[in-house]
Amino acid sequence: MEEKINRLKQEAAELIRQQVKNLSELNDIRVKYLGKKGEITGFLRGLGQLSQEDRPRLGQIVNEARRQIEALIAEKNAELKEHEMAERLANETLDVTLPGRHTWRGRLHPLTLTLNRIKDIFLAMGFSVEEGPEIERDYFNFEALNLPKDHPARDMQDSFYITEEILMRTQTSPVQARTMQAHEPNSPIRMIAPGRVYRRDDYDATHSPMFTQVEGLVVDEGIRFSDLKGTLELFLRKIFRENVGVRFRPSFFPFTEPSAEVDISCVMCHGKGCRVCKGTGWLEILGAGMVHPRVLEMSGYDPKKVSGFAFGLGVERIAMLSYGIDDLRLFYDNDLRFLRQF
Ligand code: PHE
Repeated sequence: MEEKINRLKQEAAELIRQQVKNLSELNDIRVKYLGKKGEITGFLRGLGQLSQEDRPRLGQIVNEARRQIEALIAEKNAELKEHEMAERLANETLDVTLPGRHTWRGRLHPLTLTLNRIKDIFLAMGFSVEEGPEIERDYFNFEALNLPKDHPARDMQDSFYITEEILMRTQTSPVQARTMQAHEPNSPIRMIAPGRVYRRDDYDATHSPMFTQVEGLVVDEGIRFSDLKGTLELFLRKIFRENVGVRFRPSFFPFTEPSAEVDISCVMCHGKGCRVCKGTGWLEILGAGMVHPRVLEMSGYDPKKVSGFAFGLGVERIAMLSYGIDDLRLFYDNDLRFLRQF
């Protein structure tokens, strides 16, 4: 019996030292020798059947074996736990020097920023902001603006027709007629109408078949050309700089009479002449004029009672000049390297 116990002890010691690789295996060993039905436990139980003289000696041996196995298990347990902790520490290390992952914040498109600046200036002057459809009737886009079907000036705006009577609007000017027709005849109007317009055109550094305009319309009793000049000069000084040069050149639009093309002194060379202004010192920036009496009449206004002025400007052009952008396509290509700069 003594021998058997020693063998068990030996066997357990070997298993614990050499075989056991993790805590659950170690637990199996504990159950095998020291559990309720374990082998050492079996001997402890059997002690009662031994004779008086054998009992103390063998009892001592079994208990000693149990203590030793317990000690080995405890030792191994500590070793495995330490090992496990070391492994976890190695696997779960956190490199706190890695750059953080930040969420991208959106931002406003340069055209939207420019449009917002334009709106702010006109809102401060008491203008309202109106809207019209991008898919427009030939009637509003041309006819109500004094451009009948066979008018040669239609050639200036090569258009995308959907049917004979419906097209992608070529300008924001149709909102002039729409706004007047939505008002009581002869009631005062002071509005701007921003939006997209479409023309059959190339797509290059200075052209796009879609671009953005802001229309302006003021109608009231006694509106004069000087009101047009004053309003546009104030606007151009606010959007560019206080001392920008402004010049009006005679021009033609079927819906205004007289008509003017408005230039500003070149924002690059301040009038000396450079590549951007093609040596002239001036940049064309918008079209304008006094609302043609026929246009007032066609929308129910009486040109004997009221008069008005209108203007139309290109938002891309203003954005390009204020930010120093030399290619129109940058606005539409959605290249984040470009867009993130605003
Ligand atoms: N609609 C004209 C264009 O697109 C601009 C304009 C608007 C001219 C209002 C005069 C008055 O060219």
